[in-house]
Amino acid sequence: MIGLWLQPGWKSFRGLGGELGKITAGLLFFGFARGRIRYNSSSMSIQSDSIPDQISERLGNRNVEHRLELQKKLTMRKVSQGLGPFAMDHFFSLDQIIGTVIGVCGLKGLGLHNMMDLQIVENEVFLPGLPSAFEGFRLMQLSDLHCDLDIHLMEKVREMIQKIPHDAVVLTGDYHNKVSHSFERSLKEMKKLIPLLHPVRFGILGNHDFLEKTAIFEENGLPVLLNESCSISRGDQRLWICGIDDPHFFKTHDLVKARTGIPEGEISILLSHSPETYRQASELGYHLQLSGHTHGGQICLPGGIPIYHNAPGCRRDHLSGPWREKTMVGYTSRGTGSAGVAARFYCPPEITIHILRGVR
Ligand SMILES: [Fe+2]
Repeated sequence: MIGLWLQPGWKSFRGLGGELGKITAGLLFFGFARGRIRYNSSSMSIQSDSIPDQISERLGNRNVEHRLELQKKLTMRKVSQGLGPFAMDHFFSLDQIIGTVIGVCGLKGLGLHNMMDLQIVENEVFLPGLPSAFEGFRLMQLSDLHCDLDIHLMEKVREMIQKIPHDAVVLTGDYHNKVSHSFERSLKEMKKLIPLLHPVRFGILGNHDFLEKTAIFEENGLPVLLNESCSISRGDQRLWICGIDDPHFFKTHDLVKARTGIPEGEISILLSHSPETYRQASELGYHLQLSGHTHGGQICLPGGIPIYHNAPGCRRDHLSGPWREKTMVGYTSRGTGSAGVAARFYCPPEITIHILRGVR
């Protein structure tokens, strides 16, 4: 039997070479011209002035103001979230250029097939001091759903999760694809997904998620942790799920607050959209960090070598799969969905099942 206990203050539960380089250069202007006219922010279905008081109290007024300001700039395309060439994304659409290059190379079908090749990955996590009641506990992680990129993939996710045995589920952010496009379709997909999730469920927001989603998710039954924690109990034993707001772009995360009140020695699992928090999380005593955001590179070279990643300060091993930072273990999902371009190469999407094991 699993019971839940909420922290005080948490009020609502409920093989490409030189030739390709030339093609890319040739398509730059083409993509630039197309990209500038395709954006449409007028059909946003959520409004930046609609943050309920209880959410402002939970995240803090300063964080809310900071987030809303950045959200507004994103909507108006005054800033972009990417690094390197993607930092120019508000001037032209690099995704369109990459998509066009993939099409010209005749790889569109293969890329889409790979994107739909959703794999179930089991990851054993060894946690010294894990309460015996949680031995073998199966924690599902869905990450970076970017629901609106391809709704057929979301159908597959809904089908698959119901067939995989698990004891709880966490969603590590990024439910939407492009922030300058309407949120309607991704919210509709999430409303279909949430009722099918395991009843013990928690979400956090990523850099593609506007704060207004929090109330909508919670009204539909997905608690969102905004620098907050929640415990899962089995009998008289428990462990803690701590969730922070996006540490990558909005930087409204607070790892100290998310862990406040947790008694010394009790297991704390951190949900952090990006692995970038690994160092501070380890220093603060978190036992396990679960992240996504990197997509493992999404479009990789043979062997899963990422061509590009958007997690500054991270090592290669932080970009996908299990990793360790001193006494803390971590895992970065390659993502359940995909973003930008509906294609993957040498980097399959995943539904992750973390199997908790004590070390005795
Ligand atoms: Fe992200």
